[in-house]
Amino acid sequence: MTGGAGFIGSHLADALLARGDEVVVYDNLSAGKEAFLARHKGDPRYHFVHADVLDTADLALAMKGADVVWHVAADPDVRTSGLRAEVHVNQNVIATLRVLEAMRVAGVRRIAFTSTSTVYGEAKTIPTPEDYAPMEPISLYGASKLGSEALISAYCHTFDMQGLAFRFANIVGPRSTHGVTYDFYHKLKASPKRLEILGDGRQLKSYCHVDDCVSAMLFVESRPWPRFDVYNIGSDDAIDVFDLARVAAEVWGLKGVEMVATGAKGSGGWKGDVRRMGLANEKIKKLGWAPRYTSASAIRATAEALAREMGNISR
Ligand SMILES: NC(=O)c1ccc[n+]([C@@H]2O[C@H](COP(=O)([O-])OP(=O)(O)OC[C@H]3O[C@@H](n4cnc5c(N)ncnc54)[C@H](O)[C@@H]3O)[C@@H](O)[C@H]2O)c1
Repeated sequence: MTGGAGFIGSHLADALLARGDEVVVYDNLSAGKEAFLARHKGDPRYHFVHADVLDTADLALAMKGADVVWHVAADPDVRTSGLRAEVHVNQNVIATLRVLEAMRVAGVRRIAFTSTSTVYGEAKTIPTPEDYAPMEPISLYGASKLGSEALISAYCHTFDMQGLAFRFANIVGPRSTHGVTYDFYHKLKASPKRLEILGDGRQLKSYCHVDDCVSAMLFVESRPWPRFDVYNIGSDDAIDVFDLARVAAEVWGLKGVEMVATGAKGSGGWKGDVRRMGLANEKIKKLGWAPRYTSASAIRATAEALAREMGNISR
């Protein structure tokens, strides 16, 4: 698994090991933490390779004999992607190409890929189904993930491989190291009476607990594999940024926080920030999977986890 030391990857590694798989985590630790996987040290079914996805030789060696490559590594920062177009193309598109080439060399036929709702851009249909068109990403990050999906599809059809792409809503939960709840935690820790909210605070989005995210992926992956297919993974509802901040502040015991939106009515948080996002879950639900968390309960659990992991906020 590439990116297995990161937030989502480490939860996926936990679940794969718990179901009895042998797991090779391949991560350059640019954002991931070995500590997330410390509990598996000494388990003969767990292996860690400290290397970069762009190093094809290391990659092909690490995946030799694997049944499935979980390609999770990426630069996931939507916010800065407009400032770092090259980084996103390298870390997402070229990195995916390297993974696919290494699979060809190593003779591995199946790839499961962590994609994103941002591939849809400002969709006119919300909740957005997987067959929504036209796909018009508005961030470099979204574009790089859509490009990666296209490469995977083409490799599957050209080289007799099989692929799954999972388009995630905002994933939250324990061990998160980025995202809005994480940002609010740090802002409020520095200044517990006032919270600056990027944009107008009315951005309405779906948040999905990482346990739901991992269980959905394993559910689809354990079924018969198509040539290539795409699944949305999100909660059934959405929450706006003000409500999200209220839920988190309540968990942290902060009352009367002044919430100050930085943007005018109708503005997003940054260039490339989609204002409304909700994913249709019907396709995966028809197969028998459903999320356990709502957006609000997922945020609550994340705020609780942040307080556990980094200490509560006190005034
Ligand atoms: N967190 C979300 O809300 C969300 C939403 C949609 C999609 N995704 C996707 O899910 C995946 C995991 O996201 P995350 O939130 O866990 O991010 P993360 O930053 O915690 O994890 C990414 C991991 O990949 C590793 N990595 C990055 N570049 C690498 C490289 N060149 N070589 C080897 N390892 C490398 C990092 O060290 C890190 O461990 C990403 O593909 C991301 O785009 C995340």
